Amino acid sequence: MFEQQDPNLIQLNSAGQLKHFLTTEGLSREMLTEILDTADSFVDMSAQQVKKVPLLRGKTVVNLFFEASTRTASTFELAAKRLSADVLNLNIKTSSTSKGETLKDTLMTMEAMHSDMFVVRHSDSGAAHYIASNVTPHVAVINAGDGRHAHPTQAMLDMLTIRQHKGEFESLTVAIVGDILHSRVARSQIHALRTLGAKEIRVIAPTTLLPRHIEALGVTVYTDMIQGLKDVDVVMMLRLQKERMQSALLPSESEFYSLYGLTEEKLKLTHPDSIVMHPGPINRGVEIETSVADGPKSMILKQVTNGIAVRMAVMSMAMSGQMTEHQAERESE
Ligand code: CP
Repeated sequence: MFEQQDPNLIQLNSAGQLKHFLTTEGLSREMLTEILDTADSFVDMSAQQVKKVPLLRGKTVVNLFFEASTRTASTFELAAKRLSADVLNLNIKTSSTSKGETLKDTLMTMEAMHSDMFVVRHSDSGAAHYIASNVTPHVAVINAGDGRHAHPTQAMLDMLTIRQHKGEFESLTVAIVGDILHSRVARSQIHALRTLGAKEIRVIAPTTLLPRHIEALGVTVYTDMIQGLKDVDVVMMLRLQKERMQSALLPSESEFYSLYGLTEEKLKLTHPDSIVMHPGPINRGVEIETSVADGPKSMILKQVTNGIAVRMAVMSMAMSGQMTEHQAERESE
């Protein structure tokens, strides 16, 4: 666990532009909307024959995934390639981390290769913030998920998916269901939804999977899924994150599924036009019924596709913010 200060002291440059992307917390509505609008332009580009733009040409992006990933790692790699960057995926399992090299030494080694951007996933909360505080000034850091703290690009691809289907946020009731306690995704979603003006954010979970004082984030807590799902416009399901559970927090998976699994039957309680989301990976029959995951309301694969556009947006914005900062520093010398 790393200590953290106000993220905006570090993730924004002196002109208020993004130069790292560490968390959705504290970012303005204008900034989140700029990310969504920029991502929208890349969604349109994906429909074209040539899916590349030169925005990161000549830049080197290093993907540092100290934790497993399918969606985030793949879509960051594709996003960087579609921005024309040179991409290096450091395989942590076969890297010198296994010989005891520290995170700081690994970073200094990658910096010595004139990297311009680090995309980092790490099991420790605050790892991305720590890296952004310690890298060479011109290097941008993008948080690809740190411990149970934040997963900001996941939250923004979720916001993009909601905006595409619902048009706006102000009239929406959104329910986040499942293992809120261990979820970096839920925290980033709550901050983004609040800033974008969602009418109501509900969290639905057993008390053992709810963080203490979660109400302070501006959410309504439900421990009964039947009550919590009533008339919601968006249902966001979460996986049980067993890799972060230090003790048995549930009687059994089958009991969890019966009380908190999203089934066809429970989905009938939501608004007729509701959509179903899940950041993945999904566990069928644990938090979601197969027919719901694959059904007409499911946005799960759309979320994956939107991950490319959102990651292209934050990478291009952060690189531009770094270059503006660097230019301003040179001019003041
Ligand atoms: N949603 C998400 O972060 O998935 P991965 O762990 O596969 O990247």
